[in-house]
Amino acid sequence: MRLKPFFVIASLLFLLLPSVEMKRAGKGRGLKRARHKIPQDRVRARGARRHSRSGPSGLVSPSCSELKESGKIFMDCQDRQLTFIPPANSWSKKPRHLLLARNRIKILHDGAFLGYDSLTSLDLQQNQILQVEEGAFQGLTRLKTLLLQHNRLTTLSDEALIPMPNLRDLRLYDNPWKCLCPLESLIRTLQVPSSRNLGSNARCAEPIWLKNRKLKTIDPELLCTDAAEAIIHQTGNNTNPLEPIPLRGKADSASLCHTYLFPHMRMDCSKRGLTEVPSGIPDDVVQVDLSHNLIRRLRLKDFLGASGLRILNLSSNSMEHIDHGSFFGLLHLQELDLSDNDLHFVQYGVLEDLYFLSRLKLGGNPWVCNYSIHYMVYWLRLHPLVKHSGLWCHSPSEFAGERVEDYVQSYNRECPKDKQPSRAELDTLDPVNWGTPMELQGEVEEDLEPSHLRAPKKYEVYRLS
Ligand SMILES: *[C@@H]1O[C@H](CO)[C@@H](O)[C@H](O)[C@H]1NC(C)=O
Ligand SMILES: *[C@@H]1O[C@H](CO)[C@@H](O)[C@H](O)[C@H]1NC(C)=O
Ligand SMILES: *[C@@H]1O[C@H](CO)[C@@H](O)[C@H](O)[C@H]1NC(C)=O
Repeated sequence: MRLKPFFVIASLLFLLLPSVEMKRAGKGRGLKRARHKIPQDRVRARGARRHSRSGPSGLVSPSCSELKESGKIFMDCQDRQLTFIPPANSWSKKPRHLLLARNRIKILHDGAFLGYDSLTSLDLQQNQILQVEEGAFQGLTRLKTLLLQHNRLTTLSDEALIPMPNLRDLRLYDNPWKCLCPLESLIRTLQVPSSRNLGSNARCAEPIWLKNRKLKTIDPELLCTDAAEAIIHQTGNNTNPLEPIPLRGKADSASLCHTYLFPHMRMDCSKRGLTEVPSGIPDDVVQVDLSHNLIRRLRLKDFLGASGLRILNLSSNSMEHIDHGSFFGLLHLQELDLSDNDLHFVQYGVLEDLYFLSRLKLGGNPWVCNYSIHYMVYWLRLHPLVKHSGLWCHSPSEFAGERVEDYVQSYNRECPKDKQPSRAELDTLDPVNWGTPMELQGEVEEDLEPSHLRAPKKYEVYRLS
């Protein structure tokens, strides 16, 4: 009888112990999983890249090609100067994704997509579409995404959308919408709460008193009433109370760049005369091309929010300076192209935000082989998985044409103690990040990085190959 309580306590302990153990183990596993998450994403992206663009295949319409990414097959008919939709029987297999961007299609005729019943995405952006006949989208019962941005549409009947019950994403911006009575039904449809991603950012071009207003926000009551007529007749009358609202001043990526959703989300902002990085790059964009612009400087948090970015192209700008924290937030960036700019060196610390970089293009910059360039070389040594190209000394003349790595090596070979940078030289660089150079000078220089270059460690970075 006296043993019973002990037995109870013992068995309770027995029951409790494993659960404590399990909790611990569970916690550990959770952490491990979190740590593995990013690299796995990377692997997937790499695999996808390897399989990209399988080239023209004999099975498809002669003017289009098949494009594979992430196991999906895209029929790529972009830039083919097409003036019509290829008939559905052009394909040996029914396509699910059809890319028709940058062609010369003007009219979508009734029944243009008959036979395309497997289609889930359709990209018709950057054509010259003026007119969509009411039965044009007949048969597209599975379509989820329809891209009609950057065309010449002035009006569209909501009847045209009825054959697409699964439509979730409809892009209509950058069309010269005439916000008059015939557009009323479409505007009402776009304003239904369940149409959240239909027609966002589409704006009226006419009449003048509604210019630049979003279709989503105008009062449809105004369009087909006598009041509307009266206001229309008043246009040109200076007492008109409704002035067109001006567009926002700050460069916005959605309006300045071309957005492609397929095969992955990509923004083409090249050759736009941009002097700064446009704002509002969405976090699901995988690739941004900012090449051939006039950007002279990258600024703190220019890419904040673009956390999904894997490829960033900044080549052929006039970049002279990259501020601290410019790459902040680029957690997944794999490829960075800085070629053909005016960079002399990269400021200490700038590259520290790029945890998963694997390619860095640096050619065509006037790299100066003085002490300021050492940071770049040490960073590259500490990150041997980063493949880089184009790091050659441009000046001073004694090193011109030499690899920057060779310059740094010869610098270190020649009695580094004598050639320590002077106090004045150090002060020209950002002193906040230099630790305390005088105190550290006595330390043995066996590390890759000279002690005076060492900054306090903010975080540990684990690279998993
Ligand atoms: C503006 O239009 C109203 C109504 O048509 C008219 O009465 C008024 O005189 C006009 N004002 C000017 C400045 O033209
Ligand atoms: C960046 O753009 C330039 C010019 O358009 C192109 O030659 C280069 O291949 C691009 N770089 C990457 C990494 O895509
Ligand atoms: C290296 O050269 C660049 C460009 O001429 C200059 O801005 C920088 O201050 C120089 N750095 C050192 C340590 O002399």
